[in-house]
Parts: sequence; structure tokens; C-alpha cells
Amino acid sequence: MKILVTGGSGYIGSHTVIELINAGHEAVVIDNLSNSSEKSLERVAKIVGKEIPFYKVDIRDREGLEKVFEKEKIEACIHFAGLKAVGESCVKPWEYYENNISGTLVLVDVMRKHGVKNIIFSSSATVYGDPDTVPVTEKSPKKPCTNPYGTTKSMLETILTDIQTADPEWNVVLLRYFNPIGAHESGLIGENPNGIPNNLMPYITQVAVGKREKLGIFGNDYDTVDGTGVRDYIHVVDLAIGHVKAVERFSLNKGTEIFNLGTGKGTSVLELVHAFEDATGVKIPYEIKDRRAGDIATNYADASLAAKELGWTAKYDIKRACQDSWRWQKNNPNGFEE
Ligand code: NAD
Ligand code: WQD
Repeated sequence: MKILVTGGSGYIGSHTVIELINAGHEAVVIDNLSNSSEKSLERVAKIVGKEIPFYKVDIRDREGLEKVFEKEKIEACIHFAGLKAVGESCVKPWEYYENNISGTLVLVDVMRKHGVKNIIFSSSATVYGDPDTVPVTEKSPKKPCTNPYGTTKSMLETILTDIQTADPEWNVVLLRYFNPIGAHESGLIGENPNGIPNNLMPYITQVAVGKREKLGIFGNDYDTVDGTGVRDYIHVVDLAIGHVKAVERFSLNKGTEIFNLGTGKGTSVLELVHAFEDATGVKIPYEIKDRRAGDIATNYADASLAAKELGWTAKYDIKRACQDSWRWQKNNPNGFEE
């Protein structure tokens, strides 16, 4: 299939483009480069051995999108484009609602005008809020999100579901990612956050490479194995392959489907730090800080539905993810800047 990948020069998008090409699909990327570098696609081209058509287009730019749909025979869309920083979304809620919600509404409208009614949407485990029980299944209740970013994901799930209900020609796959980490084994692409990383793994790798002095661990008094927060860390390549499997759902015309993409295994902050040290031989100094507002103790996936329906399970473990994250960071201490 020829697949439009919005946000395709970003972290998860760039890895997904590789797996789409590996599986014999064609990818066309649009991105406004607000949180990524075009260089990631140059690296992707090196890995897959061919150029990926790229358009610097904002998903809110209807005319720009129209031109892409007129030029390329798009059959489906994997929609990654969006703002994703939890803390920033609390400071700039308007910007998050406008970018993520308005952008998706424009994209979906242009898609349907061109008869393209297949979409995979990047949702998040954040829609489960603070779950009553773990592991969470797709049937676990959605809870109010503690930040506008999460709310955009939850609202967009509803919006896409409603659009599919009104027009059954649509195929909508909502993928709820848990905590993506790792990088492509080549070390050529990986996560490249602007400024101080919000997420745990890029913070660890920046400490390891000497850009930050020590990791702050947000709380060690949670009701968990060692008091630190527990999450489901999934290798980004596994996540990317999950998208390729989801593309195969379009031909089944199942309406709207929801899948958790996680490993099914919880790992604490301290366990991840120690796994990183064991996998790389690099010591990570840390200090215990106060809990971070909005954090929960534990969240991990029941990923059995994706196994049953998509034939997908995560194959890489934490050790491998640590090695791959480290290779990327070590070889590219300043991300995509040479
Ligand atoms: P990312 O920031 O690396 O990628 C998102 C891309 O979208 C960036 O390249 C950015 O430039 C682009 N973009 C943003 N707004 C745009 C717009 N209006 N028009 C065009 N391009 C735009 O983030 P990522 O980690 O690769 O995340 C991809 C998607 O997955 C996002 O929707 C994110 O919310 C979702 N997600 C991420 C995580 C995570 O922890 N990384 C977890 C769950 C869900
Ligand atoms: C993981 C654990 C922290 C940084 C966020 C979003 C979620 C999703 C994934 C997009 C927690 C602890 C972290 C640090 C730490 N994104 N931590 N020191 O919070 O599970 O999820 O990213 O959809 O929506 O909320 O991920 O990587 O920020 O934190 O101790 O410097 O690491 O407290 O227990 P989180 P994270």
C-alpha cells in the first residue's frame, strides 16, 4: 500500500517508515519539522536504500495537504503528527488543542475528499489515566487525563470513532502506545528531544553521554516493587512493526479497532536504570526527588488482543532497548546535528 505517514520524520514515525518499506509498502512523509529534523529521513534513506518522498507540510494546512493527495496516490494514513510534551501542554493548552485536534480534523477532511478512509492513529496509554487494575486491557475504562496533551488523545479517539460510525467505509485503528524506548540497531536514528528530556530513557542516555550530571528519580515511595514508578517500556522497532500489522486490518473492514501496544511487563525506574548500566557498562548517577505532579504508580499493558488479532507481540527486551538507545546517543551526542 502507499501510506501517508504524518509526523514521519519524528521518533516513532521514522522507525515506522523503515518497517513499512521492509514489509513492501510505499511511504510518503509529511511533517512540519516542529519537533524533528529532515536529516532523520536522510538516515532512513541510508538504512532502506531509497529516498522517501517528503513534503514539509503542516497538517493544519489544507492546501498543502491537498497538493500531496493530488500528487501521490495515497491509500491510507498513519497519523503520528502532533505535539506530545505533557508539561508543555499544561502551559500551552490552546496550542495543543489547536495543533492536535484542528490538525487531525483538517487531515481527515482532506483524506475523505480524496476517498482515503483508512487511518491508524497514535494514541497513548495516557487515556487510561490512573487505572484501577493492571494490566490494562482495551476494555479498561478511559479515565480523565491529567493534562491537555492526554485529553487531545482521548478526544481524537472519540472523534475518529464517531466519524467511522457515521461512515462505515472508514477503517480506524487506534493504537495505544505504552512507553516507547530504544532505537534502530544501526544507531542512525533515535529519539531526539529538544531541551531537557521529559521522558526517562532520553534523560538516562543524556546522563550517560555526559550532557546531564545525574538523573532525578521522581519518587521512591510508590506502592511498587522498589518504590519507583512502574511502566511498560516497549522497543520502538516493535512499536513500528505493530503499525505494519495494523495496516493489514484495513482490508478486513472491521470499523474502529483499538489495540494496546506494550510488552505486558512492568519495569520500575530503578530496574530500568540498572538494566541500562548492565547492558552498557555505563554508571548512571541519580538522586531521589519528589514525586512529579500527575504521575501514577503503575501502568502496563495487557497486550493479548494485539497478539490474537494482529499476530503481533513485542520481541525485543529491555536490555536490547537500552543497548540500542545507547548506541544512538553515543554516536549522536547532539542528535541529528553533525
Ligand atoms: P515526535 O515529536 O518525534 O514526532 C511527532 C512529529 O509530528 C514531529 O516530527 C513533529 O515535527 C510533527 N508535527 C507536530 N505537529 C505537526 C503538524 N501540525 N503538522 C505536521 N507535522 C507535525 O513524537 P513521537 O514520539 O514520534 O510521537 C509520535 C506520535 O505518537 C505522537 O502523536 C505522540 O503523541 C504519540 N505517542 C508518543 C508516545 C511517546 O512516548 N513517544 C507515547 C504515546 C503516543
Ligand atoms: C516514566 C517513569 C517517571 C523522567 C509519558 C506521558 C505519556 C506517554 C509516554 C505520550 C515515571 C519516571 C521520568 C525522569 C523519572 N507519552 N521519571 N525521572 O510519564 O509514563 O509517560 O510518556 O503519549 O502520555 O505521560 O513516561 O518517561 O516521563 O516517565 O524518575 O527524569 O520515569 O516518574 O515513573 P510516563 P516518562
